[in-house]
Amino acid sequence: MEAAVIGIVGATGAVGQAAARALHRWGVSELRLGGRRKDALDEFALTLACSQVAAVDLFDPAELTAFCNGCDVVLNCAGPAYEVGDRVARAAVAAGADYVDAAGDDVLFQQVARLRPGTAMISAGMMPGLTALLPRYLARQTPGTPQALTGYVGGRDRFTVTAAADYFRGGTSFGVARMVLRNRMRIPETAPQPEELPFYPEKASATAFLSTETERVCARLGIADAGWYSVFAGEHVAAVMRGAADAEALARAAALDSFGRQTYQLIVVELATSSQTKTLVLRGSGASELTGEFAALSAHAVAGKRIPAGVHHAGEILDPAEAVARLRDSASVDDLAVLDGSAQETGCYVEESV
Ligand SMILES: NC(=O)c1ccc[n+]([C@@H]2O[C@H](COP(=O)([O-])OP(=O)(O)OC[C@H]3O[C@@H](n4cnc5c(N)ncnc54)[C@H](OP(=O)(O)O)[C@@H]3O)[C@@H](O)[C@H]2O)c1
Repeated sequence: MEAAVIGIVGATGAVGQAAARALHRWGVSELRLGGRRKDALDEFALTLACSQVAAVDLFDPAELTAFCNGCDVVLNCAGPAYEVGDRVARAAVAAGADYVDAAGDDVLFQQVARLRPGTAMISAGMMPGLTALLPRYLARQTPGTPQALTGYVGGRDRFTVTAAADYFRGGTSFGVARMVLRNRMRIPETAPQPEELPFYPEKASATAFLSTETERVCARLGIADAGWYSVFAGEHVAAVMRGAADAEALARAAALDSFGRQTYQLIVVELATSSQTKTLVLRGSGASELTGEFAALSAHAVAGKRIPAGVHHAGEILDPAEAVARLRDSASVDDLAVLDGSAQETGCYVEESV
């Protein structure tokens, strides 16, 4: 497996760099780093002694084909995802490579399926991605029949303009805001969410978002009730969220809110079964880092032939125990714990002094 060539498109970005570093740490010696800015690629490659570098504009079909030729796996970390679409996947499949995408929604899933790839995984990010894997992991740790799932994901963090653009453009293509699942039916979430959330070290705003990923995980685990919430801390980000969908404004606001502060992402997952309730808490350094790490983990599994042929959502096919073992050991995860009891009981809100 160590000899497999993994090509990363978007290797100079926040997600791409995190993915490349993780793969390098795990001993992948054949990395091909791609992006438009050759000088930025060269500079980054110096930090990973074993990498090839190739300037590639993904809107140039000849350059993209040349990049993909000879790769065993192509990992797309370039964005915004709504602009990249399936063009990297098409080039990868045409070159005979397997494919992993750090982003991707239900539309991309269908597009990639039509390409009939060897093996492909999309949605290999923090959300969607980790947000499917962690409930699956928790279900295996909790005896009894799964009944209700609650999740919170977010924190105080930077946003690249690219990720902010996808946040505003992509949301509706893989879920619906302000909805929860009750008795297997989508219903509007009308209850106002408290600002004091379990495990969060400061007040934050939570908005229900029911993703198609959460619905699939619930269907697979037999869960009837689910509420999943996107969480943002920071007054500047809160102000942008109340206004127009402006990616540059969101990136600026997030930078202001993070200035001089420790950034963090918390994923809190509570699962109630017929016999007990458990809560999983993951604290990571940021969404880009967690996305890069999870994308790397996915590419590593594909390169190691541990994923069956066909198209998959990464968080729904990766082995939860293996993935969590790697995450626990990763540079972007500060802590990952499973606790007995509900999120409220185990992590009731206590504001940290700043
Ligand atoms: N699922 C999640 O939770 C999550 C979280 C964070 C990010 N993401 C997604 O991850 C993706 C990357 O985000 P990011 O924050 O890493 O963005 P970023 O830091 O702005 O990086 C974007 C990358 O894409 C490359 N790129 C852009 N246009 C290109 C083109 N035409 N040809 C070749 N390369 C191109 C850039 O390289 P050059 O400038 O050198 O061309 C850069 O390496 C986005 O789709 C974002 O939505 C997902």
